[in-house]
Amino acid sequence: MRTPFVVGNWKLHKTVAEAQALVTELKNQLGAIRDVAVGVAPPFTALWPVARRLEDSTIALAAQNCFWEDKGAWTGEVAPGMLADVGCTWTIIGHSERRTHFGETDATVGKRVAAALRAGLGVIGCVGETDAQRDAGQTFAVVDAHLDGILAAAPKDWDKLVIAYEPVWAIGTGRTATPAQAQEVHAHIRGRLRARLGDAAAAAIRIQYGGSVKASNAETLLKEPDIDGALVGGASLDAAEFVAIVKAARPK
Ligand code: PGA
Repeated sequence: MRTPFVVGNWKLHKTVAEAQALVTELKNQLGAIRDVAVGVAPPFTALWPVARRLEDSTIALAAQNCFWEDKGAWTGEVAPGMLADVGCTWTIIGHSERRTHFGETDATVGKRVAAALRAGLGVIGCVGETDAQRDAGQTFAVVDAHLDGILAAAPKDWDKLVIAYEPVWAIGTGRTATPAQAQEVHAHIRGRLRARLGDAAAAAIRIQYGGSVKASNAETLLKEPDIDGALVGGASLDAAEFVAIVKAARPK
C-alpha cells in the first residue's frame, strides 16, 4: 500500500514573506489530512523560514535541486547536507527544466541522487519525454534512460525514492496527459523498476505524475492504479488549488 505523495514545486516564485504566508495557509487547511503525504519545494532563499513554519506540521520540505559534492570551490551550488541542515527531507532532482536549460544529464543526475541519499534526503527523480520524442515513438526509451540515470544510485530504503513522470509537453502548457496516457507510462516505469530492483521495490516506490495538474483534472489522474501522487507546479502557488489536489489524492 503506497501512501500518495503530493508535492508543490514552487520553481522561481515567492519571496520569504509570500512563502511563509502560503505555507501557513496550507498548514491550516491540510492539518487534519493524514492519508496523503504532502510536501513543498520553495526556492532556496525561502527554505529556512518555511522550515520554521513547518516545525509543528507533517508537511515535508523539499529542495528543487542539490549538488553532488558536500563542500568546496563550487560557486553557486548548494550541498545536500546544507539542505538537510535547514530542514529539508527531500530534494527534486533531474527536473526537465534543469535538463533543458542547465545542461543536466543522466550522469549528473545520478551523481546528485547519490549525494542526496548519502546526506539522508529522499529523492524525487524526474523523467519524461518531449513532444518530438513522443511523436517519434521514443517515450519509453527516453523514460528508461532517465530512470537508469536515477537508479545508478538506488537507495536501500524504497520510501526514500519517488519517481516523477513529467512529460515535457505537459509542463506549464495547460496540456495534461490523459489519465490513460499517464497510466501507460507509469505502468511501464513500474515494470522497469521491477526488472531492475525486484518486486518489493516496484510495489513500494511511488510514481508521481506532473504536468499541468490542477484541481479540475487531479481526481481522474490520481484514480489510475500506478499514479501515486502528483508533482504540481503552477497550481501549487495557490493554496485553494493545491489543497484541492491533495484532497483528490486521498485513497478512496
Ligand atoms: P506545472 O509544472 O504543474 O506548472 O505544469 C509541473 C512541474 O514542472 O513540476
